[in-house]
Amino acid sequence: MDKIMVEKSPPLRGNIRVSGAKNSALPILAASLLGTEDIILEDVPNLKDVDVMCEVLSLLGAKVEFLDEGIIKINSANIDNYETSYELMNKARASFLVMGPLLTRIGKTKTSLPGGCAIGTRPIDLHLKGFRAMGAEIDVDHGNIGAYANKLVGDRIYLDFPSVGATENIMMAAVMAEGETILDNAAMEPEIVDLANFLNKLGADVKGAGTSCIRIRGVKELGGATHSIIPDRIEAGTFMVAAAITKGDILVENVITSHIKPVIAKLREVGCEVYENGDRVRVIGTQNLKATDIKTLPYPGFPTDMQAQFMALMSVSEGTSVVIETVFENRFMHVDELKRMGANIKIDGRSAIIQGVDSLMSAPVRATDLRAGAALVLVGLVADGITEIRDVYHIDRGYESIEEKFASLGAKIYRV
Ligand code: EPZ
Repeated sequence: MDKIMVEKSPPLRGNIRVSGAKNSALPILAASLLGTEDIILEDVPNLKDVDVMCEVLSLLGAKVEFLDEGIIKINSANIDNYETSYELMNKARASFLVMGPLLTRIGKTKTSLPGGCAIGTRPIDLHLKGFRAMGAEIDVDHGNIGAYANKLVGDRIYLDFPSVGATENIMMAAVMAEGETILDNAAMEPEIVDLANFLNKLGADVKGAGTSCIRIRGVKELGGATHSIIPDRIEAGTFMVAAAITKGDILVENVITSHIKPVIAKLREVGCEVYENGDRVRVIGTQNLKATDIKTLPYPGFPTDMQAQFMALMSVSEGTSVVIETVFENRFMHVDELKRMGANIKIDGRSAIIQGVDSLMSAPVRATDLRAGAALVLVGLVADGITEIRDVYHIDRGYESIEEKFASLGAKIYRV
């Protein structure tokens, strides 16, 4: 098993280009099952989860070709299978997103119930609520879940929580359903908008993506398209925090700044200088980082996927910070790892109280999920000694060659 070693590093300086967004590439790859002509996807990040999703598409009968770095060609004219396997589902939960496309394209889909993961139980009740509302029969047996429908019929569906995955799965099921589907309390993340834009390029009729009410009118068939994936706002935020925690000066390129307003605002609150210039953001760290409070919320609130990275920063800021995690019920697994390195953090339910300390010390630690892994890299950059991070496969799921990108900024980081 790989390990990543991070030594105390000088302030990080230089330019770094952000890759395409994992959480946009995965639903768009699933949506490629809906097309009957050639699809070309560009700016696809080179990640384990993307490889798994491509494996799922091939298993279902799609033709998948890696044309070049970040460019994938898919043709789903002949989808001849509708089952995915437990192994693949276990490797990447996002493969659950093939259910909506298969259900509306061929009327049946079967997969294994997605397992939980470190950050929570990750239920799928809202996905199923949408499928049932559109007329699908759902059956669950021996850990498998099947959905069947001769013809889906559009309906008005209310999401009890603005779930990103449920919004995506139901939107994809609705694009070839009969009539109109209204999705209320829908997720508004930029990745939802990217998916809707892609679906409309294929010939779908989706309106309102990015707002809490999405209207989809079903069409008979979808064709092909060329689409480039939006930049990864979470990877961008991770490098911006890296500039803050090492008191460095980093120019992050290929950023849509409107997608990371909460992170920009919070970095300014703790004393950093942040300059926005087109698709680039420059972050200059401050000598005395101040504490601040964070409350994670669905978009456009502070992203839960940046919570661990910001907690790393608050661990070495002056004063007391409070982090409230409202999206996932168990996304504090990184706290124990940070405490092993000397961080002073107390958990109280969904809140974590962080007392900033002057310095952290290296220790062998474990990545418990992909963003927690990134947080450990960040504290490793400023902790005395060499921090050894295990279970780095979590990090590889969400960050393209993380050690090369950090090393290009002057970090002393390497994989063993
Ligand atoms: C997506 O996960 C992202 N993954 C996550 O990114 C991200 O943290 C999350 O959205 C929130 O922004 C991908 O896009 C592949 P949710 P998803 O459904 O869709 C509850 C990362 O770090 N819920 O919005 O699974 C659920 O329990 C990953 O890149 C239900 O109750 O998130 C959770 O508490 C981690 N019932 C909350 O909603 C459901 O049917 C948010 O989940 C579905 C979800």
